[in-house]
Amino acid sequence: MTIRIETRDLGKTFAVDGRDMRAVDGVSLAIREGEFVALLGPSGCGKSTILNMIATLLPNSSGEILVDGQPIDRRRPSRNVGYVFQRDTLFPWRTVQANIGYALELAGVAADERRERTQTALAQAGLQGFGHYYPTSLSGGMRQRAALMRTLIVQPQILLMDEPFGALDTHTKLEMHRVLLNIWEREKQTVLFVTHDLGEALTLSDRIILLSARPGRIKEEFTVDFPRPRDAVTLRETPAYAALFSRIWHSLGEEFVKGAQA
Ligand SMILES: Nc1ncnc2c1ncn2[C@@H]1O[C@H](COP(=O)(O)OP(=O)(O)OP(=O)(O)O)[C@@H](O)[C@H]1O
Ligand SMILES: [Mg+2]
Repeated sequence: MTIRIETRDLGKTFAVDGRDMRAVDGVSLAIREGEFVALLGPSGCGKSTILNMIATLLPNSSGEILVDGQPIDRRRPSRNVGYVFQRDTLFPWRTVQANIGYALELAGVAADERRERTQTALAQAGLQGFGHYYPTSLSGGMRQRAALMRTLIVQPQILLMDEPFGALDTHTKLEMHRVLLNIWEREKQTVLFVTHDLGEALTLSDRIILLSARPGRIKEEFTVDFPRPRDAVTLRETPAYAALFSRIWHSLGEEFVKGAQA
């Protein structure tokens, strides 16, 4: 069993108005190769902060972070790690295909191969025929699919995803779950997926790590053992889904209330 992401007693303190504010406290987790883990918790509990520290975008205040068994190094971020941000971050001045192919350009991949891989990515995301469009001419869901493919095109083995579908309506979100599950079934990336949406966490993940309201600490963990491949729509009609949903809902609800009172 290979552990690809590990944090040990991870903590983060921000200085706000001259005072220390503890955002994340004592988070220890280990994610196995090919595992899909959801990090679930209320708004402001430190989910993005944890992800940003693992991605070397933010220094940690305490504890340790290891990727592939090595302590992370901000000067040399791992090439194996891809990041999908909370907001879609497409470049508005580039077409969809130029956005998706951007990382290949940076990597010096030849134009022919770039075109081929970009076309494949467009097809995987159901965006055939939209390559020449600019992001402003796409719907939110289409933009988010393009943003997803822009990260996936360099085939990262480890994926950090920060509520990538948070801004989408329910229907579009389900569509995105199908796209992502299809790709994941094939490539089996190691995924750490941040969300405050319990349904999304249950649909996608093998395991849910529930965080407390701020400061984010691990409150509970749940194994999600629904059979795969899963269908994002029909899964929600099963008794097993309903049973696990209600088990976690209560615990999550307590943290929503605490978060709202903080
Ligand atoms: N750069 C920063 N400086 C000061 N405080 C910060 C900074 N970034 C985050 N925080 C604070 O840390 C806490 C955790 O923020 P974080 O963005 O990690 O939450 P989150 O769980 O991702 O929330 P959401 O679900 O709303 O995205 C919040 O109270 C936030 O105000
Ligand atoms: Mg966040």
